[in-house]
Amino acid sequence: MKLGTSAFIGAAVPGPAATLLSPKLAEITVQLDQVVGDISPNIYGQFIEHLGRAIYGGIYDERQRRSRPDVLEKVQQLRPPLLRYPGGTVTKIYHWKDGVGPSRPVRKNLIWGGLDTNHVGTDEFMQYAKLVGAAPFLTVNMSTGTAEEAADWVEYCNGTGSYYATKRAENGHAAPYQVKYWGLGNEEAAKEDAGTLQNPQDYIKQAWYYAKLMKLQDPSIQLIMAGDQEAWNQQVLRELHPICDYISLHLYASSKPGEPASLFASIAAMEGSIQKLAAQIKALTPEKVTGFSKWYRFPSRQQPVKIALDEWGIWEGGGQGAYGLEMEYTWNHALGVATFLNIFQRNAAVIGLATWAQTVNVLAPIMTNDTTSICQTVYYPLALYRRLCGPRSVAVTVAGAPTLDVAASTDGKTLTLAIVNQSNQAAVTVKLPPLAGNWTAHELNAPSIEAKNTLAAPTKNVVAYKQRPLPAGAQAYTVAAHSITLLQVAR
Ligand code: AHR
Repeated sequence: MKLGTSAFIGAAVPGPAATLLSPKLAEITVQLDQVVGDISPNIYGQFIEHLGRAIYGGIYDERQRRSRPDVLEKVQQLRPPLLRYPGGTVTKIYHWKDGVGPSRPVRKNLIWGGLDTNHVGTDEFMQYAKLVGAAPFLTVNMSTGTAEEAADWVEYCNGTGSYYATKRAENGHAAPYQVKYWGLGNEEAAKEDAGTLQNPQDYIKQAWYYAKLMKLQDPSIQLIMAGDQEAWNQQVLRELHPICDYISLHLYASSKPGEPASLFASIAAMEGSIQKLAAQIKALTPEKVTGFSKWYRFPSRQQPVKIALDEWGIWEGGGQGAYGLEMEYTWNHALGVATFLNIFQRNAAVIGLATWAQTVNVLAPIMTNDTTSICQTVYYPLALYRRLCGPRSVAVTVAGAPTLDVAASTDGKTLTLAIVNQSNQAAVTVKLPPLAGNWTAHELNAPSIEAKNTLAAPTKNVVAYKQRPLPAGAQAYTVAAHSITLLQVAR
């Protein structure tokens, strides 16, 4: 393609040296009538665990016994529709009754270390979820807990008039919380964890039992079953599918030391894991459950089984804090996050929810110290995609540009092309799809892929956001090196 006079060269290509780079030519093709699937708003979920400084010192100020306003404001701007709690691995030793009512026992956090004052428990979490506008998602203890304890939690959260529902009212919360999403355990296949269900048949037996008692308390709840490798998933899907609304998949990408570009290979492999699980769901689970005995006294699942990416993120070595989980993220990691979000769009048909692990201080977009908090680089793509991407994924391809990762979404009026240029070096000029209407570019970039925001310089933000309209009739756009661009056209 030759660039015509109407072609728009993104002003983001900085300075004379960069413009001397001969940009590669590429072409993006969108098929608006080929719908990939509805993008669940719940892919923009978040997760907080009783782990290190995620809760105490993160969302919550222990000295003042209240949530931290500076952190709250930052979480609110992410607009997470879903918030997962209380773990994670800690689920295996967490007893929800320690965290409600006036008397809160201080417990050892046997999994992550330190003490848990239990000042944040179910009611405080629900209050927080409400403040950020998120639906709550609770994970139950299948190790040191019991099915009855899990069912009591459903009753506490969703019941009316009965014993635990009355306890909730006595604790100042008359209206039920209507918690819809319940995780049956967390990474139950993990041998090193404090669980006992590493044999999938043990998990399946227990999960049926938990599901029965919990659904007898509230038949409308949706269950997220613990997933793992292919063989585990096969048995779980085959035997639990009538009551499995979601099967969980945890994705933590990483790069090889000194090879930032290897992050994208790690993330690409994860798209493979999603597609492998999607194929298993298709092969092993009917879209509709038939013949479910009425004697269960609750209905089977009502929708096709979906994937719950209920932990996803980027986990490199070398962090601070508990288990080295307090990581500083570079701009390269932000490119990785945008690539993940593109993958979620491209696989929208099968991804029901995703919760980033974790919101504050633990592999987190938000970091705090005693006096301030900052947004790390990875915060910005999470916020931008949430704000601008549409609710329906449509087919898109890119030819001639191996460093570009692309997804397309629409709300029926506006088409949003999400373009990540993973190249550290080269701008790429793309021919735009020939659609009527004027394009607007929303670009995130940083001076280099190593750039990061840190608590040492809390007022410095390396991430620049630019919004600019393209000239009328623009046929091409140049995406800058290491940029994230959402290109929108109103239709
Ligand atoms: O997010 C940190 C930990 O990673 C979670 O507790 C666990 O589920 C996962 O392995």
